[in-house]
Amino acid sequence: MSFQALPGFRDVYPADCARRDALFDAWRQVSTRFGFARVDGPPLEPLDLYRKKSGEEIVKQLFAFTDQGGREVALRPELTPTVARMVGAHSRDYKKPIKWFGLPQLFRYERQQKGRLREHFQWNCDIFGEESLAAEAELLAVLVAGLEELGLNAGEVEIRVSDRMFWSELMDHHAVPKEARYGVLQALDKMEREDPAKTRELLGPLADPALAAIESAQRNARLDELMGRVSDLGLADWVSVDLRIVRGLAYYTGIVFEVHDRARSFRAIAGGGRYDHLVGLLGGQPMPACGFGMGDVVLLELLRELGKDLALPATTKLYVAIADETVRPGAMRLVTALRREGRSVEYPFGAMKLGKQFQQAEERGASHTLIVDAGLAEGRCALKSLADRTQIDLKLTWDGTAPIFSPPLPH
Ligand code: HAM
Repeated sequence: MSFQALPGFRDVYPADCARRDALFDAWRQVSTRFGFARVDGPPLEPLDLYRKKSGEEIVKQLFAFTDQGGREVALRPELTPTVARMVGAHSRDYKKPIKWFGLPQLFRYERQQKGRLREHFQWNCDIFGEESLAAEAELLAVLVAGLEELGLNAGEVEIRVSDRMFWSELMDHHAVPKEARYGVLQALDKMEREDPAKTRELLGPLADPALAAIESAQRNARLDELMGRVSDLGLADWVSVDLRIVRGLAYYTGIVFEVHDRARSFRAIAGGGRYDHLVGLLGGQPMPACGFGMGDVVLLELLRELGKDLALPATTKLYVAIADETVRPGAMRLVTALRREGRSVEYPFGAMKLGKQFQQAEERGASHTLIVDAGLAEGRCALKSLADRTQIDLKLTWDGTAPIFSPPLPH
């Protein structure tokens, strides 16, 4: 019997893991620069947390089961309900605005397609306790900084903003019944990928005014104010109004936004918006909130396609080559001492010709080889640079357990 990863799950080999680390480093760095503090929650949550307000679509995609204690549970498909619960439970312990970020792994039983897997990581930034559009503007700024940090520019990706309130006001105006409203939002959310006739049918009597508003990128006062703030922040190149953006999740109440590549050959890179009722709905002190999530899958695919693959961190490894097996015990003492100093050091596990050891040093990514032979007992060794093949003699003395080289080893 042979085993492989489940569909939609990834075995992550070293190069991809290094890429993921580089992505997380960028996200962590940018979040900290903007004053967001990292949080995390449980990967397994009560199923009802998502039934409450995430919306039908995500509930259909849950990895859910009954645990051995008879509880209905689900692997988290998103972080938002968790952070909304967390902030609601401890709202008095934190000064507002509360700015949190997270890097959770999430699980959704999705139909497999380009950019969509059954597990992914998401960079989440959320702001709680701020009702003004300053919060949305700050989120758009951190979002742009995150994209820039990864080498993307406004010619390659765009952020489209919209306002769910625009739609609720229009639906009020046209007396669309409450129970039909989620369907209208769903139709708007899907219209870019849907046959126009089908969209018209789904929008019903709202079709004419809705399509006209979309066509003219109509703005209300909130969108005007937000775009003003965006322009003040110097982000106008990145952000435009597009009323087709309504987002699939049910809890959004106001401004919503999505990030796409301009060529539109990928699914959304990120999405977010305001969700002022969720904290209260989940039992906490009601509190305004907004945030976004950016996934790793589409982002890594896009970076690769643009030839902007993340630079993998260079390892400056030292390889201790053992030219004479009789000095192996001394070489091992040296390896331990160098590693204690924080250096990244490797050595051959068994007797090996010197040429083979140089080859292994290169394969391991070493920049230098420290060559030890019978001279080690008298404190003699040599350092070879693998970049330019030059070799120099070194003198080794010990200060207790710390090796001292003259001239010193490179850093
Ligand atoms: P979302 O739009 O469901 O929003 O997901 C955000 C991003 O996560 C997407 O744009 C996409 O890049 C990525 N993503 C989602 N599902 C998958 C998948 N199956 N495979 C790969 N990538 C995926 C949310 O999750 C909201 N909770 C975001 C948020 C935070 N809103 C407010 N705060």
